[in-house]
Amino acid sequence: MTITPQFLENLRSRVSLSSIVGKQVKLTKKGNRALGLCPFHSEKTPSFNVNDDEGFYHCFGCGVSGDAITYLRETRGLNFVDAVRELASIAGISMPEIGPIDKAKQERQSKFLSCIDLATFFFQSNLKTQHGEKALDYLKKRGLSEKIIEEFRLGYAPRSGLNKFLKNKEISDEVSKLAGLTSFSERDGRNYDYFRDRIMFPIQNRKGQVIAFGARALGEAKPKYLNSPDSPSFSKKAVLYGWIQARERVRHNLPLLLVEGYMDVIAVTASQKAAALAPLGTALTTEQITLAWKLHDEPVLCFDGDTAGKNAAVRAIERILPVLEPGKTVRIATLPEDSDPDDLIRHHGGEGLLRIIKASQSLIDATWSQKASMYEIRQPEQRALFWQETRKLVRTIAHNQTRAAFGDEIERRIKAMRASTRNDHGVSNSDYNSRLNNFVKRPRTGSIRRTQTLLGLMIAFPRIAIDKFDALSELEFGDLDCEKMKNHLFDALFRDPDLDERAIRYHLSNLGYNKVLSEIDEMFAGLWIGSKNSNMNLDDARRKIDEIISLSQAPRRR
Ligand code: UTP
Ligand code: MN
Repeated sequence: MTITPQFLENLRSRVSLSSIVGKQVKLTKKGNRALGLCPFHSEKTPSFNVNDDEGFYHCFGCGVSGDAITYLRETRGLNFVDAVRELASIAGISMPEIGPIDKAKQERQSKFLSCIDLATFFFQSNLKTQHGEKALDYLKKRGLSEKIIEEFRLGYAPRSGLNKFLKNKEISDEVSKLAGLTSFSERDGRNYDYFRDRIMFPIQNRKGQVIAFGARALGEAKPKYLNSPDSPSFSKKAVLYGWIQARERVRHNLPLLLVEGYMDVIAVTASQKAAALAPLGTALTTEQITLAWKLHDEPVLCFDGDTAGKNAAVRAIERILPVLEPGKTVRIATLPEDSDPDDLIRHHGGEGLLRIIKASQSLIDATWSQKASMYEIRQPEQRALFWQETRKLVRTIAHNQTRAAFGDEIERRIKAMRASTRNDHGVSNSDYNSRLNNFVKRPRTGSIRRTQTLLGLMIAFPRIAIDKFDALSELEFGDLDCEKMKNHLFDALFRDPDLDERAIRYHLSNLGYNKVLSEIDEMFAGLWIGSKNSNMNLDDARRKIDEIISLSQAPRRR
C-alpha cells in the first residue's frame, strides 16, 4: 500500500479536525478556531486551540501540536497507517490499493492477533476453573483484587489444553507456533503448549491488543518468568508492559513509574498512587524510553538500592542522555535494598511508594551525584577527573539546545564547586517536589525547630540516622527544604554509609542546602553540633532523636 502526499492532502482537507477533537473535548468556537481543555495535560482553563482551516492543533499550556493524524496517534495509540485508515473512513474515502505483499502481511497479522486473543480468553477462563484454583489463590495471596486481575486480564495456563482449544477454533499449527503459543517436538512430531502451569500476564500493544505473554511459574520451576519469543509481530524491545492501564492513570495526573517486573506494574497500579510501565525482562531500551515519553514528560525510573541497581541506574542514564529531547526527562528513584516496588508497597503501602517518588532525583542531580560518588572528590586530581567525565557524559546529548542547557547547569555546578562558595542554590527539584507536595499533608507549624534539631543530629550522628531510617523517613519534616534535605541525606548515606559529618555537610552544601545548614548551625551555635566541640555522646543523641520522633508522631491537639 502506498499512501501518497496527495492522498494525505486530500484527506486532511476533507475532515474537520474540530469534529474529531470534539468527540473527546468540549470545544468552543471562536471564528475559525475552537478552544477547549487540553486532552494531553490537565488544566482548568482552556488553552487547547484547534484551527480547522489549517487542520492543526496547538496547546499553549503544554506545547503539543499536530494534525488529525497525530491527534489520532497520540490519543488512541494508533500507528500511522491505522490513523490514516480511521480518517479515511470518517471522510468516506477509500484507502489506496493494498499491494499483494502488504495484503499477505496484514492477513498474517490478523491471524496472529486473533490466535493470541483466543489464548488470552482461554487463560482467563482457566483461572476461574478448578485447574486454575491454586493460581488464583496465589494471586490473591499476593494481594491482587479481582478487579485488578480482570483489568490486567491475568490468566492461568494449564499443563495442556491450549493446543486443542486453538485447533477447535480453527487456528492452524503454523499460526499458533508463530504466535509463540505452541512448540513442535522433534521427538514425537507433535505440537505442545509452550506455557504450562504458569500465571499468564498478557502484554498489550498501545491499541490494547494482546500481542504476547509473560508467564510466571507457580512453584520453583525455572525459569521464573517465561516470555513469548520475538516474532515478526512482536519485538520485546519495542513494547512496555502496562501501557493501556498506565495511560488512563496518567490522564488522571498520577506520576508514571518505570519498574522492572510485571508484578511491580500491577502493585503500583493497584496502590492508586502512580501509574507504571515495565520492559519485558530486558534492560530499558532507548526505544522504550521514547515510548514512555509519549505518556509522561518525566517518568520516574526505579532502581534497587543494591550495587546491581546502582549499576543499572548508571547504564540507564548513559542510555537516556543521547536521546534527551527538550522538555523530556526522567527522574531516578532508589528503592531500599532487596525490595522491588511490589515489596515496598506491601510493607509500607502507597505512602511508602510516594515517599520514594518524592525522594527521587532529577536527571541532572542523578548524573552529577552518581559521577561524584565514583571519585574521591575531596582530592583535586580526582575532582578534575570527575569534571572531565561528567562533561564527557554531557557531550553525548545529541539534541543541541538540550545539550547546551544541560552543559550550562553542569558548568555552573563545577564553578560553584571550584569556588567552594556557600551560596550554591543548585537544587532543581523544587518544581517537581512542590507539585508532588500538593498530594501530601501540609506542613505542621511550629515544628521547624524540632525538625532542624533532628536534622542536625542526623548529620552529626549518621549511624543513628541509618539505624532509624524507617521511623525518620516516615516522619513528615514539615518544611519542604528540610524534607528534601533529609531525603538527600539518606540517599548519600545509603550510597556510602561511612560518610562522616564533614563529608555529609560538603555533599549537602553542594546540593544547595547551605541555607538550611546555616540555620541549623545558628540554632546550635556553641552547643554541641560539630564533632569538635561536641559535648553530646552517641547515647545522648540517640535518646534525643527518639524523643523527637515520638513527639512528632504524637497526635496534634485540635
Ligand atoms: P524478578 O525476578 O525481580 O521478579 O524479575 P519479580 O518481578 O519481582 O516477580 P515476583 O515478584 O517474584 O513474582 C523482574 C522481571 O524480570 C523478568 C520479568 O519481566 C520479571 O518481571 N524476568 C525475571 C524474566 O524475564 N525471566 C526470569 O526468569 C526472571
Ligand atoms: Mn517481586
